[in-house]
Amino acid sequence: MSKIYKAVIPAAGRGVRFLPATKATPKEMLPVVDKPAIEYVVAEAVEAGLTDVLLITGRNKRALEDHFDRNTELEDALRSKNDQEKLKLVQASTDLARIHYVRQGDPQGLGHAVLQAENHVGNEPFAVLLGDDLIDDRDPILPAMIAAQQKYGGSVICLMRVPLDRIHLYGCASVDSVLGDGVIRVADLVEKPSTDEAPSDLAVIGRYILDPAVFGVLHNTPHGKGGEIQLTDALRVLAGMPKESGGGVVGVIFEGRRYDTGDRLSWLQSTVQLALRHPELGEDFGDWLQQFVTDDMPDR
Ligand code: G1P
Repeated sequence: MSKIYKAVIPAAGRGVRFLPATKATPKEMLPVVDKPAIEYVVAEAVEAGLTDVLLITGRNKRALEDHFDRNTELEDALRSKNDQEKLKLVQASTDLARIHYVRQGDPQGLGHAVLQAENHVGNEPFAVLLGDDLIDDRDPILPAMIAAQQKYGGSVICLMRVPLDRIHLYGCASVDSVLGDGVIRVADLVEKPSTDEAPSDLAVIGRYILDPAVFGVLHNTPHGKGGEIQLTDALRVLAGMPKESGGGVVGVIFEGRRYDTGDRLSWLQSTVQLALRHPELGEDFGDWLQQFVTDDMPDR
């Protein structure tokens, strides 16, 4: 079994749900409390031993590269002021991981983004992390997914139970059999079904461990839902393929805390939740929030 150490993070989307904030700034650079969303995701990958990170970027994404690069001018300025604390914060993103970039010139969906990683990844299993999903660092899920890949082979997806009236926002999996320890074998998948069409309440969350066979499948995956090349469609093909050719998909059920930063409302909610547990800001912010909700909440 090859050790999994490569993570692919698609970051070429246009961030339409966040316009105009994302007109000139990549969605992944929007702060959640005091760090850009992407930094949480890269840190989660590194924590799980995925130290080789490939960002799939595109137009308007220079800020991402700058964020993970050294800023020697800023470092010198902080050093001359002897501001060690800020210096550490500035250097943290640079020292996190070995970060590589590839551009997805003409974004055609998540499956298409993953396909851009083919040359970098080669013939070994790898992780994909989507920036819209932040997983609470108290509830890491990647280690269990990596363990499931080593045990069952093939690809691994992360599944979370959601109310059926929200399933249309996610890929949805149907269960073939229960393997134990919160792991199921996936029979089939469908991208963003309506409540009536959904085969279950198991939503696909943005963490994947993929067998490299996914690349061959993606090359032949037609544009699907929303006119995009969907990773979910490639996974359903993998689910039906024999093990010898890299097929088979299992799902790890996630029951931990997850924050969605993909749209404005969820982003606001994530910001509040993460601010409340921030080591420096949490207490003061919590006091203020409580008082605000009790006394100052505007009438609606
Ligand atoms: C993508 C996937 C979807 C998955 C979701 C998780 O959708 O296509 O299957 O459930 O991420 O966040 P997106 O949210 O990018 O539209």
